[in-house]
Amino acid sequence: MAKKEVVRIGLLGLGTVGFGVYKTLKLQLENMEAKTGSRIEIKRILVLKIADFADRVDDVAILTENADDILDDPEIDIVVEVIGGTKAAYEFQKKALLNGKHVVTANKDLVATEGHNLIEMASERGLDYSFEAAVAGGIPVIRPLRRCLAGNNITEILGIVNGTTNFILTKMAKENMSYQEALKIASELGYAEANPTSDVEGLDAARKVAIMASLAFHSDVRFKDVYHEGITSLTEDDIRNAGELGCVIKLMGVTRQIDGAVEAAVYPMLIPKDHMMASVEDSFNAVFIHGDAVDDVMLYGRGAGEMPTASAIVGDIFETVRNINNDCTGRLGSSVYRQLPIRPQEETVNKFFVRMRVPDRCGVLSEVVSVFAKNNVSINSVIQKIGLEKPDEAEIVITTEKISEKNFRHSLDELKALDSINEISSVIRVY
Ligand code: HSE
Repeated sequence: MAKKEVVRIGLLGLGTVGFGVYKTLKLQLENMEAKTGSRIEIKRILVLKIADFADRVDDVAILTENADDILDDPEIDIVVEVIGGTKAAYEFQKKALLNGKHVVTANKDLVATEGHNLIEMASERGLDYSFEAAVAGGIPVIRPLRRCLAGNNITEILGIVNGTTNFILTKMAKENMSYQEALKIASELGYAEANPTSDVEGLDAARKVAIMASLAFHSDVRFKDVYHEGITSLTEDDIRNAGELGCVIKLMGVTRQIDGAVEAAVYPMLIPKDHMMASVEDSFNAVFIHGDAVDDVMLYGRGAGEMPTASAIVGDIFETVRNINNDCTGRLGSSVYRQLPIRPQEETVNKFFVRMRVPDRCGVLSEVVSVFAKNNVSINSVIQKIGLEKPDEAEIVITTEKISEKNFRHSLDELKALDSINEISSVIRVY
């Protein structure tokens, strides 16, 4: 088949990521034809208000406020959707596919809810649907899961998959920066979502976990299936205590296939300082994958930001252009071929760290320990400090062995009802 001289792109969105794509394609101008077989041209870019984006492009005439200028243009081969969100983005992507256009997206919100359907819709039409940038920014994760590791039964993925929260936790632990200040810098650096609640409450990471779990376990795992906790309730005391236990705190995405069910969750975790995950700092992300044939794989790199995310998107664009030129688009359909049940979080097994404030009087520690013993919660370590905040108070920090989350939660309910507990200050899982 003859190569296409020019492949034309319609870019939906010119925010942080869209502008990164614009710049990266310019940087690739000289080599793109040799790499892909075609010249790649951005024909139109959708923005909300042309006046706000005019200084970002060489030719303001390529900007439009009307998505149909892109979606209905028969000359446009690939639609790159980087506006985010699920409503308009879904309609745009659907229309692009119905109009025979390949889609490249960074939209994890959409892929984590409608990904399976959109991939099917694309492959039924012989179109490519690519979303490498939807998980862990510039780190190749989607391709390794779909291709390189396809010969494995994958049983576990652990990852730091949110750059914003990793940046915040690193700055708080290493530079004593406040949470608010670190979040402000993460937003300025373009790591955070338009609404950073998504980052700090663990929603962004949960979307990425859903995407990875679906690909790894060939079962449709959606955002709603992923249990999630964020970092907003972590305090400087938690970070200090973690340090005293030889650990750092990371927001972890965890998904496992155990006994025919999928576990999928995001929560802060104490990670021992000598574990490789502990040295993943700032906006860097890392993903550990365990497969039966390959054993362990670790993928590491920049998980957020303009250019790392653009790197993944432009990689997807180049692959689609190569596929167009080799007449093999739409080859990779959905890899979901079964539906495994999702195990509720309280039925999982974990290790915990719990910090509480108690009155400094004889017998309190023994009361606490007996509640855990009664609920079959085995204790790993106990640290008690007297008079830390108030002279007549003690802080107790307990870590557990691997125990049933249901039993642990039950213990906490019983502890909260005791007169001898002033406050359960924090509960964090331990690696
Ligand atoms: N807000 C995301 C993060 C961007 O901080 O990781 C990359 O998906």
